[in-house]
Amino acid sequence: MINDELPIGATPLTPDDANGLIPKHIATRGQLDQFESRNIQQGLLWAMKTKRTPSDILNIDFCLKLHKQMFNKSWSWAGQFRKYEVNIGNIPPEIVAVQLKNLCDDAKAWIEFSSYPLDEIAIRLHHRMVYIHPFPNGNGRHSRIMADLLLKALGQPLFTWGNKANLTLQSQSRVDYLAALRLADKGDLSALLDYART
Ligand SMILES: Nc1ncnc2c1ncn2[C@@H]1O[C@H](COP(=O)(O)OP(=O)(O)O)[C@@H](O)[C@H]1O
Ligand SMILES: [Mg+2]
Repeated sequence: MINDELPIGATPLTPDDANGLIPKHIATRGQLDQFESRNIQQGLLWAMKTKRTPSDILNIDFCLKLHKQMFNKSWSWAGQFRKYEVNIGNIPPEIVAVQLKNLCDDAKAWIEFSSYPLDEIAIRLHHRMVYIHPFPNGNGRHSRIMADLLLKALGQPLFTWGNKANLTLQSQSRVDYLAALRLADKGDLSALLDYART
């Protein structure tokens, strides 16, 4: 069931990871989406209630803790890195941690030296994080919240992400979002920046 009716651009779970589903009553993709959404709302409340600096957010510990808070009721592997290859980004699992650390360090340097506008720093963080794909699942949702938390820490308004019109499901908004990510894979961030502020 877990890999049935996957939204476009979603990563299928391995049988091992699928076994990590905590609620036992879930039988459809719709139920799973709903259950995860409630869990994510709780994680979001936890994340938003504390005032944090960019350095509080841009480190591996915080990335893991946020994923755990978003998915702790849903998946036994919440807050743990994936252990196998995926076809987004092609980053081998052994180097996920070091890649994520490099990304956090880069983002801190971009802020310190004003290398890019603040929106672009947050979007670069989001894009490279989904490209690294640290987790078995939830990478899109986690890295969008990471970008929003960084904006909050920088005193900027949060992104609207195409008005979040069902970004996790099949929708025109999701098609536009994935097209923008693929352009960003080639180094052109303009469509993703527009999307995030729509
Ligand atoms: N070509 C791509 N380049 C970069 N990121 C991508 C690409 N295709 C998909 N993604 C990202 O991967 C996410 C899907 O990974 P997944 O772990 O299933 O996240 P979630 O469960 O939160 O949707 C998408 O939401 C998107 O953010
Ligand atoms: Mg997914």
